[in-house]
Amino acid sequence: MSATPDVMTAFTSGLADINLDESGTARRGANAAGMKSASASIYDMAATLSGHGALWNWGMHDPALVEEIRARVPGFGEPWTDGFSEQLYFLALRELPIDLDDYAGRHVLEVGCGMGEGLNFLSRVAPGAGMTGLDLSPKAVARGTATLSRGDALTFVHGDAEELPFEDGSVDVLVNIESSHTYPDLGRFLGEAARVLRPGGFLSHIDVYTRQRTETMRRTAEEIKGLEWTADHDISDRVRAAVRRRMAPGSHFRTTLGKQRMNPLVRQIAAHSQILMFGGMFAGYQPPPAIKALSKLGIVPWMSGLPMESYRHRIAVRR
Ligand SMILES: C[S@@+](CC[C@H](N)C(=O)[O-])C[C@H]1O[C@@H](n2cnc3c(N)ncnc32)[C@H](O)[C@@H]1O
Repeated sequence: MSATPDVMTAFTSGLADINLDESGTARRGANAAGMKSASASIYDMAATLSGHGALWNWGMHDPALVEEIRARVPGFGEPWTDGFSEQLYFLALRELPIDLDDYAGRHVLEVGCGMGEGLNFLSRVAPGAGMTGLDLSPKAVARGTATLSRGDALTFVHGDAEELPFEDGSVDVLVNIESSHTYPDLGRFLGEAARVLRPGGFLSHIDVYTRQRTETMRRTAEEIKGLEWTADHDISDRVRAAVRRRMAPGSHFRTTLGKQRMNPLVRQIAAHSQILMFGGMFAGYQPPPAIKALSKLGIVPWMSGLPMESYRHRIAVRR
């Protein structure tokens, strides 16, 4: 399936199903399969269009964290990234009770790794670990494999979060960043996380939540055997700070778009879509007058996406 308007419709209605229904499960099997197929097509397209170093999350901004990252990763943030998306990755490991210098020999699995740039960054933050990235998009996995893989240190596999192709107890740390809100069955994913983690291993889970999805997560987390939840941090303010910086004139996002040759109105539409995709609504974005006029004519959407309430980092330990 390629990313046609039908695929976009299947994806947006699947997202609404998953995030606005407190059951937390796209119960009809056809829906779940359709959502996964649409999701793979959309991220396949993103992998084809994305430039070097691209990550696909909304990011966060915390100046103290940036200082810590700079101390560990020389040259961090130069020259192709604004560093906001990498900060979320850093947080995912930093908040665990494992020293970042003590990762040698550990197996870190990222589920929903996109093109692998975030995991590649983590391999510099916590050297010596064996890192595996898994994603549903074949093209994202192919891109990571072609451009980033390095023997046992960094490998990528194609797969589904709800059916992980790993042995029981084979993972020390499982990272999941801004991905699970598209999984039709959150309980199956968390059950798989519990299965592949070794006793004492950690799940570091970061995602964006609607009011209903918060309730689903609370209930599902209680139901899954073997995971003890030790932290639930609302990081919304730091995520909004990153999104606002990305929206601002002169930002890395805007400048990158500004370098492409295109008509100024098309550029405004492209910037508008990008802002909507990267958390604009969550950070209070208001479209400029030209976009408002075009949306009144039905040419571009004014706003899109779901009413997201919070962005959270949750940690569980495998008992
Ligand atoms: C918003 S992107 C985030 C990517 C990456 N974690 C990052 O922060 O840049 C969501 C990713 O989840 C992947 N994904 C969606 N559904 C999945 C599933 N059922 N199993 C594995 N990956 C999935 C998508 O293909 C996409 O790469």
